[in-house]
Amino acid sequence: MTPDIIPTGAAAGAEIRGVDLTNTPDDNAYQTLNRALGEHGVIFFRGQSLSPEQHMALTLRFGALEPNTFGETHGLEGHPGIVLISNVEQGGREIGVKGAGDKWHSDMCYTAKPPRGTILYAHEVPAQDGLALGDTCFAATHAAYDALPKAMKQRLDGVRANFDFAGRKRLSPITQAQIDAFPPVTHPIVRTHPLTGRKCLYVMRDDCTGIDEMDEDEADQLIAALADHIVRPAFVYRHQWQPGDLLIWDNCTVQHMAIQDYALPNRRLMHRTTFAATEAPA
Ligand code: SIN
Repeated sequence: MTPDIIPTGAAAGAEIRGVDLTNTPDDNAYQTLNRALGEHGVIFFRGQSLSPEQHMALTLRFGALEPNTFGETHGLEGHPGIVLISNVEQGGREIGVKGAGDKWHSDMCYTAKPPRGTILYAHEVPAQDGLALGDTCFAATHAAYDALPKAMKQRLDGVRANFDFAGRKRLSPITQAQIDAFPPVTHPIVRTHPLTGRKCLYVMRDDCTGIDEMDEDEADQLIAALADHIVRPAFVYRHQWQPGDLLIWDNCTVQHMAIQDYALPNRRLMHRTTFAATEAPA
């Protein structure tokens, strides 16, 4: 297979054509896709038809599986590594994680080694009057960094932000076991992508709980200013889903947010896997 890369024209995102993902990408195709992933932050393939085994094989082609704590209760039967993201109910129970990712974030940023990437595969997409709902937005953190004033780039050099799972602003309740599993960590606010060498901003309003060696008020203001800067429309690609779409995103190059503009009987069902970095951003 020879992947054809068609950038979206936004600051993030490229469609990949000419690839049938039921065949795990060979070395050449993988190198091309991996590079495109780093550069565009999110790559997408339309019209795919993958079994759970093929979805998992694709995931492992990119890196080791990173299980997500919120998936522990909502794994696909027989394939616990595949997490269901869904509003569908069966027997009075939600089959998947409902309302996942409704704030701008980068997956599992509260871990010491955040995962390289995430794969989200659309089985059912909600629609109203023929128009798709439940889009996912992606913000290009490299473009956001590049657009910063020089003085701000200098101010951020070597500065680290705090990520404390217990202090995250989230609606869903968390357990003591989760708090114990994820002790507070710090990450550089500016991460250098290991493949592209580009500098990427790594700050989110709801996940960053402070900044090393900075008082609380100043840190809160800086976190808010940077987080809002990253998600300006100029840096955002908004993906309108079709059933059979498969997206892979790079958790360093982009942040993402799911739009929650649908409700039952409009069903949304996604299969998600997350994979580790072979090389972590510096
Ligand atoms: C997520 O944040 O992983 C969920 C994204 C989505 O459901 O669109």
